[in-house]
Amino acid sequence: MQWKVKFFDYPLQFNAHEEEYIEIIRGVLSRGAFILGEDLEKFEGKFAEFVGSKFAVGVSCCTDAMLLSLYAAGVGPGDEVISVSHTFVATIEVIKFLGAKTVFVDIADDHNMDVDLVESAITPRTKAIIPVHLNGRICSKMDKLAALAEKYNLAVIEDAAQALGATYRGKDAGTFGLSGCFSFYPAKLLGTFGDAGAVVTDDEAFAEKVRMLRNHGRGKGTDINLWGLNCRMDNLHAAILDFKLPGLGDRIKRRREIAASYHNGLSGIKELRLPPPPVEDDGHYDVFQNYEIEAERRDELMSYLRENGVEVVVQWGGKGVHQFKALGLDGFNLPRTEFFFKKALLLPLYPELGDEQVLYVVQKIREFYG
Ligand SMILES: Cc1ncc(COP(=O)(O)O)c(C=O)c1O
Repeated sequence: MQWKVKFFDYPLQFNAHEEEYIEIIRGVLSRGAFILGEDLEKFEGKFAEFVGSKFAVGVSCCTDAMLLSLYAAGVGPGDEVISVSHTFVATIEVIKFLGAKTVFVDIADDHNMDVDLVESAITPRTKAIIPVHLNGRICSKMDKLAALAEKYNLAVIEDAAQALGATYRGKDAGTFGLSGCFSFYPAKLLGTFGDAGAVVTDDEAFAEKVRMLRNHGRGKGTDINLWGLNCRMDNLHAAILDFKLPGLGDRIKRRREIAASYHNGLSGIKELRLPPPPVEDDGHYDVFQNYEIEAERRDELMSYLRENGVEVVVQWGGKGVHQFKALGLDGFNLPRTEFFFKKALLLPLYPELGDEQVLYVVQKIREFYG
């Protein structure tokens, strides 16, 4: 299919700075410094500063960022972790692999964790909470969640894979709890040419533990201080991310511009429910990792758009994590999550998208609903 509007366009990102990327890669290769080097430390320092955290630890992906965070927070067999089913399976698989149990709460109007449901889900076995900031918007009521965590002595590990640069009441995604976990997967707000991730925290001892865990339990020398894994971020990725980080603010602005165009173009179609527009008077600075609408006759709309060259996507195949039978997580009553997945559709949104392409998408949606 020759798309008129692709869902994501990786070559466009590379082509825009081809010479610089080749130079960066040449630099790392010619120095022969691939693992745990200067490039990684430099990026970690700048990344921590960008997010507003004291420490950042570069790891292999956001999944590992969450795995190591939960482990470092002491989560293990028999513990419970509260999270949402409206997320990528990564958030939940790490809980499973530590031998702990996921307790799901349903989503609120903003499609993120309904914080008002959390207190009644806490039991004596609860050890941690993972709120997920989906589509670039921080889960509302994070201040209430932080207060609950303090009251019950629980660790908050934020899944901020989709929310780098987002703020809520002036505070950055990833800075509300014990740790924030980020993804640099290619399609993410700050993407590299492969997999990478980071943990941010203000807790020095926790940062040091995650740093050792990502490197086979080693500290500075060759001594093994604890059981660990290999979850390091390569210097190649660190150097690329370091180059891209200063441009992130502008790329987020462009995302917000596109979101505003979608909002203006699609407002008034009664069969659609749109995400909140990019205003700031509601306390949110939304970075629009995705533009996810809820649509009546969603599957028909999807076919119509795809036939007309617009590559739209249903996130995660249209299922909450608890709905994947093979995972054995059924038995939860999450009506809002399940209802949302029946209607949700992602429209293309990335900084390289042209205004005329956005208008084309709007025009085709308007045409569909007549
Ligand atoms: C909400 C969410 N959490 C976690 C992840 C996992 O990130 P990674 O691929 O870097 O492990 C993703 C990636 O798609 C995600 O969207």
